[in-house]
Amino acid sequence: MSVSISRRRLLGSSSAALAAAAPFGALLSSPAAAAVSEALKPSFEHPLTQRTVAEMLAMSPVDTARESALVSNAFRVLVDAAEALREPALRNAVLAILKDPVPTVADTDEGKVLAALKAEGLIDAKRNKVFPHVTQKGRPEQPFWSAPGSGYASHHAYPGGLATHCALNVLSAVRLLENYDSVFDCDLDYDAAVSGELLHDLHKPWVFAWQPDGSSRVEKPLAKTGEHHVLSLAESMKRGLPARVVVAQAAAHDHPGTPAGEALVVGWIRAAAIIAGVDPVERGFLAADKKTLPLPRRSEGFVVHLADHDFVLSGPACQWSLPALKKLAASTYGLTSEKDFNSFRNYVFANLSAMRVWALLSTEGEAALAADVARILKA
Ligand SMILES: [Fe+2]
Ligand SMILES: [Fe+2]
Repeated sequence: MSVSISRRRLLGSSSAALAAAAPFGALLSSPAAAAVSEALKPSFEHPLTQRTVAEMLAMSPVDTARESALVSNAFRVLVDAAEALREPALRNAVLAILKDPVPTVADTDEGKVLAALKAEGLIDAKRNKVFPHVTQKGRPEQPFWSAPGSGYASHHAYPGGLATHCALNVLSAVRLLENYDSVFDCDLDYDAAVSGELLHDLHKPWVFAWQPDGSSRVEKPLAKTGEHHVLSLAESMKRGLPARVVVAQAAAHDHPGTPAGEALVVGWIRAAAIIAGVDPVERGFLAADKKTLPLPRRSEGFVVHLADHDFVLSGPACQWSLPALKKLAASTYGLTSEKDFNSFRNYVFANLSAMRVWALLSTEGEAALAADVARILKA
């Protein structure tokens, strides 16, 4: 329960009042929400371009993401959500990351960071590097909007999958905040939860850089989770984001509702603070004993964690779609090599999404999938 009377109680539940209180949240439940939903549909029904197989094979993952209406609409959801954050400095910091996810954390003494992580037992003793490859200092490996949503065997594994993953998550977080307020009169910190969600996978463009065979880099573990999580947290710390945002972001992969869960979150914060070169207690990321989150524990991290659960369905949807896609690639388009198939799956998923592909396969079957793919790719 919130101590103060919630915004909803204070302002009533008219859409105008809510619009004043929570611009992006209200947008989703107002007539403008219909416009947002409508804007997401044409990507499925009217793809921008129907490519030939030769054209498709010549496209890089970045080209593929750039041309996809699905991806550009999803990225627009993220930019809209960032622009609706209330606190100007936070808004600017989040927008800067979405527009240019350059890994500033890599600009440090990596050997020193590696030794400190080893001394704390936060990284495998056999590791000789902390960071993924940086092709050009001061530049991101790719734009935020062209990165996959995860490793190549997991959720939204296609160009632009990070944008679609985060769009679903952010919309889920906004709805959860509204629902906690509507049902329980809990007035949670909108900026902390929404920006935590926007930032939670910010270093996936770095960690999951595209490879020459059309797949993405294989992620390494760090502090008992995928390295993208800790590196993303470190980036938020290094760029000076407020503690309430960083602590909420830290809970994406697990929540502090159990001692075991909290120990994991604390470990990620400790590792990220070492990488960012900051004191996690001084900055308010941990309690003074470094054993728990700041007390009393806030609820916003739970919102980030719950809203990040898109992967529960989207992971299997991606993997279960592959056999039918492989069959279609070979039978209709003559694509049999692994590299050509990777280009095909990247192109199909980036334009239709793995979620839609699986929805078609599981309800209408392979012929419906073939017809949908034919709209975007000439045989
Ligand atoms: Fe993550
Ligand atoms: Fe995620």
